[in-house]
Amino acid sequence: MDYILRTIALMMLVGTFCCQAQSRQQRIEQEENSSRLIWEVKTSKTLAKINPDMYGIFFEDINFAADGGLYAEMVKNRSFEFPQSLMGWRSFGQVEVLTQEAPFERNPHYARLRPSGHAHKMTGLENEGFRGMGFQAGKEYRFSVWARSGAGPQKLCIVLVSEDDREIGRRDLTIDGGEWKKYSLTLTPRRTESRGRLRILYDRGNSGYADVEHISLFPVDTWRGHENGLRRDLAQALADLHPGVLRFPGGCIVEGTDLATRYQWKNSVGPVENRPLNENRWNYTFANRMFPDYYQSYGLGFFEYFLLAEEIGAAPLPVLSVGLACQYQNNDIRAHVPLDELQPYIQDALDLIEFANGGPDTKWGSLRVEMGHSEPFHMKYLAIGNEQWGPEYVERLERFVQALRRCCPDILIVGSAGPSAAGDRFNYLWPEMRRLKTDLVDEHYYMAPDWFLQNAGRYDGYDRKGPKVFAGEYAAHDQGNGKANNFRSALAEACFMTGLERNADVVRLATYAPLFAHVDAWQWNPDLIWFDNLRLFKTPNWYVQQLYARYKGTDVLAAYGSDRQPLSGQQQIYASAVRDKDGNTLILKIGNCGEKSKTMDIRLSGLKRFQPVARLICYQSKDMNAVNSLDDPEHIVPETGTLVLGGTDFVYEAPAQSFSVIIIPLD
Ligand code: AHR
Repeated sequence: MDYILRTIALMMLVGTFCCQAQSRQQRIEQEENSSRLIWEVKTSKTLAKINPDMYGIFFEDINFAADGGLYAEMVKNRSFEFPQSLMGWRSFGQVEVLTQEAPFERNPHYARLRPSGHAHKMTGLENEGFRGMGFQAGKEYRFSVWARSGAGPQKLCIVLVSEDDREIGRRDLTIDGGEWKKYSLTLTPRRTESRGRLRILYDRGNSGYADVEHISLFPVDTWRGHENGLRRDLAQALADLHPGVLRFPGGCIVEGTDLATRYQWKNSVGPVENRPLNENRWNYTFANRMFPDYYQSYGLGFFEYFLLAEEIGAAPLPVLSVGLACQYQNNDIRAHVPLDELQPYIQDALDLIEFANGGPDTKWGSLRVEMGHSEPFHMKYLAIGNEQWGPEYVERLERFVQALRRCCPDILIVGSAGPSAAGDRFNYLWPEMRRLKTDLVDEHYYMAPDWFLQNAGRYDGYDRKGPKVFAGEYAAHDQGNGKANNFRSALAEACFMTGLERNADVVRLATYAPLFAHVDAWQWNPDLIWFDNLRLFKTPNWYVQQLYARYKGTDVLAAYGSDRQPLSGQQQIYASAVRDKDGNTLILKIGNCGEKSKTMDIRLSGLKRFQPVARLICYQSKDMNAVNSLDDPEHIVPETGTLVLGGTDFVYEAPAQSFSVIIIPLD
């Protein structure tokens, strides 16, 4: 470290900037104050290479995240397959649900509409959507239906209806012929509505009947324009996170409330009309938040997940059932697949690898090609089991590991450390994962903000030789404040994540959880992104995740306080440093969770050439309870400015309750 070059840093305010310039006099005064904090960053001492897949997203269909959320389908129960076959529909006149001669064998129900029998009565169906349907005035919506007619052509009228029952769009459709066919048309609503409905009227003058099945309504403007597509705004919010990895499809959903309702990926691929419905495991989980109308259409299935991962630049990380239904809900041996019946589950894993990576000449690879993706998806991670525990998990996982190692030695296998960050289950599982030599171990922690602050050094002492860590589900739960996605929780996560970053050799992947929540249909909070049928807002936690992912760097640097320890809570400061060899920058991250600003002497030792003007992104809030909302989505967002460094040594005034990212361009 070239201490002679030490200079006083000059900080300049640009825009709404969170740091103040310091005079020499101020600095001298502060030096007299013993609470100054020294932080030395050894700029040429790389501690570890950072996994490019670090900081990703975990998607699960909880809180209406898929059906009613990211998956842009607006019709609920579009194939009449819910156990109450007209749930989500209002039927009137002569409507019957039938199954004979159905067009899709795995979704056999359809509705038959007949004349009402009276000139002043109507027959029809009305769908309520997912807590309504979001229509934007002037935008196009694609309606489609599989249908056939009996006794000559039959006329339908397709109507978009507002919450207050006005028609805001209408088109006629003639069903012509006794063979099942797909019909489609587009509608353009005159009014913007967040709780609209879809109405299908059967022309009362006819005799005969019209059979309708797989009734669908999508915005034409989906993410990347895909027809069976995703809500563009929600997918964009994922892309904007710069995620390194996408873990899907759960979570508990992988396990199911019972084995029959576990997520089966093979049911989620192929023609969308023939993907069988599955119960959503989050329908009755919490007595005070019941959602009997929560089902999985699998319209957002494994093909769509892989495609999304590719399109947002994230490595796909599927999770498959290990042959155990949710252990929280089943103590019962019947929820365990007997070991001698596990082979189909193992085969599902092998076939999934073929689906993702296999050539067009393979059974499952050819299905991927048929679905429109000739190139492999380059899947390299596979998790077996979600929050599993006990010997019943280990003995099953062992069978998977043996088969996967034999067939696909390049696949990185993720095992589970159970549902919590410590305790008997955790302590039993970690040595077992070492014994099985899984590549990664998935740790989950939903804990108080203070826990995150106290555990920022969690990984400093972890074994460097065994499996690596995937922090697969974590979030700070501020119980005292309704578990809100407030600034307190986000700042605690930011401070904790300096420890993930610092331990990049051990922690190879990390994903916040859960990801999405519909404001009118959520089961679990906090969540990273909230939405209604038209809008979304990003939480403070989203901004923290984004800052880490966007500025993850390529190499972790050694960095110490005056006690020769990493800054991990000394005087309420948490800090880590990386170099980004691709962008040729040095990146410093500093969390101050104290109520006062903190003066830091930062020494960039070994740094020869750098540009004196750094970029500073500062996220701070005086109010720790501050949140964003649909009506005020940018109530607290990070602010960007510049920071003029006087030399390799400079003073940084870390604002009270703030997370700062300093990006220093290198020559
Ligand atoms: O993220 C919500 C749930 O929390 C996940 O489904 C489960 O793995 C955990 O218990």
